[in-house]
Amino acid sequence: MRRICVIGIGAGDPEQLTLRAVRALGSTDVFFVLDKGQEGSDPARLRREIIEAHAGSRPWRLVRARDPERDRRPGDRDSYTRAVGEWRARRADLYERFITAELGENETGAFLVWGDPSLYDSTLSVLEEVRRRDAVAFELEVVPGVSSVSALLARHGTGLTRVGRPVQITTGRQLAAGWPEGVDDLVVMLDAHQEFTRITRDDVWIWWGAYVGTPDEILVSGRLVEVADRIAAVRAEARARRGWIMDTYLLRRG
Ligand SMILES: C[S@@+](CC[C@H](N)C(=O)[O-])C[C@H]1O[C@@H](n2cnc3c(N)ncnc32)[C@H](O)[C@@H]1O
Repeated sequence: MRRICVIGIGAGDPEQLTLRAVRALGSTDVFFVLDKGQEGSDPARLRREIIEAHAGSRPWRLVRARDPERDRRPGDRDSYTRAVGEWRARRADLYERFITAELGENETGAFLVWGDPSLYDSTLSVLEEVRRRDAVAFELEVVPGVSSVSALLARHGTGLTRVGRPVQITTGRQLAAGWPEGVDDLVVMLDAHQEFTRITRDDVWIWWGAYVGTPDEILVSGRLVEVADRIAAVRAEARARRGWIMDTYLLRRG
């Protein structure tokens, strides 16, 4: 039977690849790569370097395709959910074609996923959709990776959870609607608009990091009201210089 391996590759530091990931890379026949129009960017370069370093000496091939564009016009929650749903369906068409047309009956294909595949990444749900369509059978293996959340907290030397307390992982889009009920600790990802700058309470602390694990890593932490402007300025400058940014932060209240 065909095998698909979804390999978490860490969030920027090539040394945070696990031994299991290295083994999976070495036994892959076909690497599936989606071009997102950012081929010169650091994430695309890191993926390529990882494949070249660990694919091993047995024959392997690379199959590339253009990632379907997503409608990113601002809209309400329903139109956002609809746009994401349509984009996933088009990705499922593509993955189905990858598996049926590009992978031999007893071969292993791999998708390399930034960080950990369980966290804000669509690869697993798209593959689930391909399975539901029943057009092609495949075994699935998921190799966990070091997430940007783990990498961020490790660099700050702080824990994710406090004793007996919950933590919520959320997005900038959700934080824009207000601090969620019932939780004092939030990890915020995918925040293009620096939603933390709208929080004015003086009992909130932040541990922020951009490009964590890469040579360009920037880390700032402190009482939010005292460091928010500095983070916003450093972030804007870094984004303008590099043309892209990936940042994550932990907010802790009380
Ligand atoms: C689409 S999500 C993918 C998350 C990924 N699966 C993970 O486990 O980290 C992209 C978001 O991850 C975060 N991120 C990824 N890499 C990062 C890095 N090196 N430093 C800081 N944040 C990062 C940012 O919040 C970014 O907006």
